[in-house]
Amino acid sequence: MYLGIDLGTSGVKAVLIDEDQTVIGAASAPLTVERPHSGWSEQDPVAWLDATRAALASLGREHGSALAAAAGIGLSGQMHGATLLDDGDRVLRPAILWNDTRSHREAAELDSQTIFRDKTGNIVFPGFTAPKLKWVAANEPQIFDQVAKVLLPKDYLRLWLTGEHISDLSDAAGTAWLDVSKRDWCDELLGACSLNRAHMPALAEGTQQAGRLRADLAGETGLPAGIPVAGGGGDNAASACGIGAVGEGAAFASLGTSGVLFAATGDYRPNPDSAVHTFCHALPGTWHQMGVILSATDALNWYAGLVGEDAATLTGELGKDLIAPGRELFLPYLSGERTPHNDANARGVLLGLGHDSDRAAGTRAVLEGVAFAFRDCLEALKAAGTGLESALAVGGGSASRYWLAALATTLGVPLEVPEKGDFGAAFGAARLGLIAAADADPVSVCTKPAIVEAIEPDAAMADAFERQYQRYRAAYPAVKELF
Ligand code: XUL
Repeated sequence: MYLGIDLGTSGVKAVLIDEDQTVIGAASAPLTVERPHSGWSEQDPVAWLDATRAALASLGREHGSALAAAAGIGLSGQMHGATLLDDGDRVLRPAILWNDTRSHREAAELDSQTIFRDKTGNIVFPGFTAPKLKWVAANEPQIFDQVAKVLLPKDYLRLWLTGEHISDLSDAAGTAWLDVSKRDWCDELLGACSLNRAHMPALAEGTQQAGRLRADLAGETGLPAGIPVAGGGGDNAASACGIGAVGEGAAFASLGTSGVLFAATGDYRPNPDSAVHTFCHALPGTWHQMGVILSATDALNWYAGLVGEDAATLTGELGKDLIAPGRELFLPYLSGERTPHNDANARGVLLGLGHDSDRAAGTRAVLEGVAFAFRDCLEALKAAGTGLESALAVGGGSASRYWLAALATTLGVPLEVPEKGDFGAAFGAARLGLIAAADADPVSVCTKPAIVEAIEPDAAMADAFERQYQRYRAAYPAVKELF
């Protein structure tokens, strides 16, 4: 048995698989996000431990003997968050999360130092970890002075599980302190934030053993003491392991809270100018690129709240067949945007409303707007030298056939729908746990699930969607000064 734990933004999920990778059981526990000021997004790391305890307890109630037979653990988690610890590993302040944009000035300042893009292969986005530390240094100097270790969220979980300060390379690549091509911390980048290697955890590949379960947790969790904990991965890299996006060109489109267009690459191929993210993959010696949009299902859920109907009803009332885009046009920048604009101040726009604009027209505009944001990600990937032939569709939004048809048509590539199952980040983490514990071959473990359907681009609608995409491209420059 192998256990995967994904520390998400809205909850912790634990998945238990056997040697054949059959899912034996899964359990989750919710988390909330605190937004004490506009643009802030924080969580108490203690809540992560409580939620993990709750998820494991619930897994143990149903599958106690399977949990007791676990031979390895893999970790996955929301990326970029800054967990600040003092020299006694005490948490100094709430963790500042990936979708917190308070440090946009500090991010721009670091990004203007050419060494950051040169070494990390990425823009320094406000969501990344380094600018958060600059913000703390400037605004909470008494806290900054006590910082002895900076950990990413899942690595705080590892500290609790194993007592070790270790991160994996896919997650570490999202800090803006990693030399992403060399797969090592970069002293100059740390120095630019008044930090050094001693503030950082040790580094491991996602498939390596990186700590062992503390004996005193065995009783409480029902897991065997001393089993290895794999390096694991940032949630996108771990999801890629779960869905088999591990060889050159293998890709997925994730319609989750945020949206991600992800492609695995066999080499390091950065292009920060296109606002594409280039990170280490969780498998040794490989990298990945991704376009990240900050509001995908979040945009639909916002609209659902506005019109007082649930999201599934709204997408359900559109039917399956695409309708040509109307005059209504939506920019989904509700919490700013990463790819392609890197603009923390951008906000959503609903444009072209008329007396005849009804609820369904609004729903279509929202789904199309998110699809167009994915198209921007595809163009960014192409500019970085990575084209797509197809992509697996994952995430809660992929339950909507209409949305997938709009996305396939906008991207001009088929979207593959996997068989029903648990192929997310927790499953990917469990696979990494298996690889690390059993010393298994990563590529033969991280296979693709069976595909039940490929949603092809709708040729009859391609021109209409292309015209609307061009309007979408023109809209942001026209309104950007007005946010
Ligand atoms: C990736 C990113 C998000 C979070 C979501 O760069 O910020 O996908 O990892 O959990």
